Amino acid sequence: MKIETLSIHAGNIVTDNTKPAVQPITTSTTFIHQEGSMIYSRADNPNRSALEHVLAKLEHGADAAAFSSGNAAGMAVFQALEPGSHIIAPDDMYHGLRAQLVQIFHGILTVSFVDMTNSENVANAIRPETKLVWIESPSNPLLKISDIKKISSIAKHKGLMVACDNTFATPVFQNPLLLGADIVMHSSTKYLGGHSDILGGALITKEENEFWDKVRFVQKTGGAVPSPFDSYLLCRSIKTLPYRMKGHAEHAGILAEYLSSHSEIETVYYPGLKTHTGHSVAASQMTGFGGMLSFIVKGNAERADEVISKLKYFTNATSLGGVESLIERRAASEGPDTKTPQNLIRVSVGLEHMDDLLEDMRQALRR
Ligand SMILES: Cc1ncc(COP(=O)(O)O)c(C=O)c1O
Repeated sequence: MKIETLSIHAGNIVTDNTKPAVQPITTSTTFIHQEGSMIYSRADNPNRSALEHVLAKLEHGADAAAFSSGNAAGMAVFQALEPGSHIIAPDDMYHGLRAQLVQIFHGILTVSFVDMTNSENVANAIRPETKLVWIESPSNPLLKISDIKKISSIAKHKGLMVACDNTFATPVFQNPLLLGADIVMHSSTKYLGGHSDILGGALITKEENEFWDKVRFVQKTGGAVPSPFDSYLLCRSIKTLPYRMKGHAEHAGILAEYLSSHSEIETVYYPGLKTHTGHSVAASQMTGFGGMLSFIVKGNAERADEVISKLKYFTNATSLGGVESLIERRAASEGPDTKTPQNLIRVSVGLEHMDDLLEDMRQALRR
């Protein structure tokens, strides 16, 4: 089955005797004791189970675990590691997951942040106690590209696990498990949900092994699980994911080209641009370049804020991956310890008509 077909059918698991065409929402928190039945909704639920099934299929994995947010999904991986483990993580890592490693796991796990655009930096950071290499490609917010195949091969050689945050690429454009990663992570709040109205996260594993059992234990016993309603909404959203991603990527490509030739713009970060330093690696591991881009506007933070304030169709809000275009001055969201340039603007390019988006950007950049 191709991804368009899988997205529509793999998450629609109907067991109801009344034979609805679409899986209903099972809100019951508990199930009548009988051989083989589900027991309690924190441990398992028909809607979450359907969601996990479609996610595993989309990422070519053996199993998937759904969580109540992307951060909860990432945290489950860190919680499943033995205390004392060392992690190698990207220097441009989603700031919320970075904050977990630095603040919550302080004294429990150790971490080295390296620039993974050069795979050698990963090899050089390996220590005897290293257990995990965490990749994020394209990264948030600098759209850095890491060579997943090369890094996985370096890690495998040393017996290390590889996890990859695939939120920006989505399974439509990139399948890290097929490139050598062991675990894929998603903030399903983003493109998987696609409408800025669901918080969710997911992990997908290449194989069911001892580590995965620990992840499942953290999921079920930690209890950061999505509700049946959110699981249902995600299954519904995923049905249109491949077509939404085609639109997002087409629009982001056009906007990136436009911004690159604009006199008010210093730099555009979009892996689909031939001038992007990670373009050739991105082209080798992605089938599309996604809907996210960042750019640096000439001037300071005030100038960036001024441009954003003039926009009509790009909503000034954090998050990404919805059908509506979102824009923000990223450093303002990341807080005082951010290394993101103060005049960097991050855009989640939506599915409005491209003529309207271009015209809006044109008038906002006018001095
Ligand atoms: C790349 C990436 N990973 C993880 C997360 C965390 O996801 P959530 O906000 O669903 O907890 C985000 C959220 O912005 C993200 O962009």
